[in-house]
Amino acid sequence: MALRPIITYENPRLRKKSVKIKRIDAELQRLIDDMIDTMRAAEGIGLAAPQVGVLLRLVVCEYADEDSDGVRQTVLINPEITERQGEWMAEEGCLSIPGYVGTVPRAEFVAVRGKNRFGKDVRIKTDGLLAHILQHEIDHLDGVLYIDYLASPDDLRKVEPGKRRRRRQGNEDDTDDPSSADDAQDASGDGDIASAEDTAAARDPELPRISGGSDETALTGQPCCDICGHA
Ligand code: CO
Repeated sequence: MALRPIITYENPRLRKKSVKIKRIDAELQRLIDDMIDTMRAAEGIGLAAPQVGVLLRLVVCEYADEDSDGVRQTVLINPEITERQGEWMAEEGCLSIPGYVGTVPRAEFVAVRGKNRFGKDVRIKTDGLLAHILQHEIDHLDGVLYIDYLASPDDLRKVEPGKRRRRRQGNEDDTDDPSSADDAQDASGDGDIASAEDTAAARDPELPRISGGSDETALTGQPCCDICGHA
């Protein structure tokens, strides 16, 4: 296992569409383990393979689950969002856009299908934090960043880096891959995945003013995002 560098928004690889994984082999297992290590080291709660420069459809998430008082880890190969319901405005950041957060519209509930790291089919129906993370991470696989949903560049806010939030609380050995089977009853219907691709096509390739100053961006003392966990 090893840490891999996380690429940031200037890197054009982040804007590419990742390809489906065809073979679940030892090399892929190594990538999954490296991504989990890298996510933990960066104190994030989600990471997509393109963020470590690998254009494969793979995401990992891990966060403290308030309900079970443990750590919930999800590894998804070739994930697809098949259903979305509701909408809310979610504050999020991204390990590839360090030091910034924005508030963007997300579905409240999603149904997602994919495979776990052992190749087993997984279906997840979830709301709350995991739904939020999965939407963000799966967007990465289509070259979409959360800033693409901002109505205005001014909606991007600078935050103090380095504070952690909602990361694991102990129980770090709980790394087997549940792939959220508990949420995974019953799969309803086939995909509405086109919406993600529409978004990708419509996005603005320019990152708004991100290299600018921190001037007007109020640091309200509010914790940062739910996604990627920084500050
Ligand atoms: Co991200």
